[in-house]
Amino acid sequence: MEAMAPAAAPPIAPGAVRGLPPGPRMPRALQTAIWSRQAQWMLEQSRARFGDIFTLRIAHEDTWVMLSDPELVKQVFTGDPRVFHAGEGNQILRPILGDNSVLVLDEKAHIGQRRLLLPPFHGERMQGYGETMTEIAAREIESWPTGTPYKLRPRMQAITLEIILETVFGVHDKARMDPLRKALRDFLDLTTDPRLLAPVILIGPERIRRIPAFRRRVDRVDELIGREIGERRLAEDLDERDDVLSMLVAARHEDGSPMSDAEIRDELLTLLVAGHETTATALSWAMERLVRHPDKLERLRAEALAGGDEPYLTATIQETLRLRPVIVLVIRKLTEPVEIGGYELPAGAAATPCIHLIHRNPEIYPEPERFLPERFLDNPPGTYTWIPFGGGVRRCLGAAFAQFEMAVVLRELVKRHRIEPADPASERPFRRAITETPRHDAEVVLS
Ligand code: HEM
Repeated sequence: MEAMAPAAAPPIAPGAVRGLPPGPRMPRALQTAIWSRQAQWMLEQSRARFGDIFTLRIAHEDTWVMLSDPELVKQVFTGDPRVFHAGEGNQILRPILGDNSVLVLDEKAHIGQRRLLLPPFHGERMQGYGETMTEIAAREIESWPTGTPYKLRPRMQAITLEIILETVFGVHDKARMDPLRKALRDFLDLTTDPRLLAPVILIGPERIRRIPAFRRRVDRVDELIGREIGERRLAEDLDERDDVLSMLVAARHEDGSPMSDAEIRDELLTLLVAGHETTATALSWAMERLVRHPDKLERLRAEALAGGDEPYLTATIQETLRLRPVIVLVIRKLTEPVEIGGYELPAGAAATPCIHLIHRNPEIYPEPERFLPERFLDNPPGTYTWIPFGGGVRRCLGAAFAQFEMAVVLRELVKRHRIEPADPASERPFRRAITETPRHDAEVVLS
């Protein structure tokens, strides 16, 4: 879904308070320490104390103005992309994803890349990927052991990686897939392993390129992807191929020129990084919640076995992403002063629509802590009240892809196995780089 033409930044009203809204007064270092361990708790405490707009100060981040009122979130998502910069907030990814990545760009350059990437991600296209996704999920799920505690998150990662290799990279042949899979896994560790990400934060994105261990992993991935791009450009059946790489090779900029190898490389890695861990995490949460609600799991299973429409599956996915959003907030760095919620926020601060808090608002979602897929059965999610994929011109490009993939994997899983939690206690969120994962990796027992 694309946003409508963005409005210009609203003028500053005379009554606006100049400066940042109130927030916890602890020093930045202490706020950072609490944030890294108990982000959700900190958000909820702060909202209880300061309301729907408050300020947090986290080390190595801009000052965040947290927003949890749908009207304020709407203002940000429909705001002028020249004023609300998302790419600037993602600069840490630039040495890894490259200078052309849609994630690190803003304004015209961002829209240019986004336009090229959109066609393969349109909803209808997902149907074409259904068969491949189903085969991959079924093969993987059938190999899982029964009768013993089993962590689902690493297996969900294996499934989502395999699906990306086939549908995005269009690589099917085992001899090519094995080295590419290995190189991509090593590369992904750079983005998800806090020990590897820490130096990027400490020494800064530019100098990290000089560290040999970092360089080696990136070079290896570049070599293998470069080869795939080169060969795909020569493929005679390009028009018949439906993988994303083939579509990018065929895509044209507005001036009619093709994408360069560097652009395609950067976008392929962007799709991998943005789409792999996130979807695996969402799937893990879906199972973490379902096994603790056996009646809902049973309803899902009956629906899957019956075939036909699957409203409960759709609602389960929506409710999982509401209650356990993979990412708790999105960032828009302000390039000029903007009035939001009665405050004139300074340039340089970041407006941060808070996914976690919007999704926990009891006025929008009665009994917000309960896992209730039923709440979405007759009420489709609202554009500014259900925002697990962010919004506006930066809304997740893979939202339809991810939900389709989740549906395939959950269907194949519940059809094949009876599933119980390894431990009846709920798993709490645990932060890995930027995603919030189940602390024990969604440990279950299959039978
Ligand atoms: C459940 C899984 C996923 C979740 C929760 C998720 C969430 C998000 C969020 C919150 C954003 C930022 C939006 C904003 O700033 O407003 C985003 C951006 C993005 N996502 Fe996803 N994502 C998921 C899966 C995927 C998949 C499967 C792909 C592609 C294969 C993907 C590709 C992207 C891209 C390219 C962007 C950047 C869009 C832009 O800046 O214009 N995501 N995603």
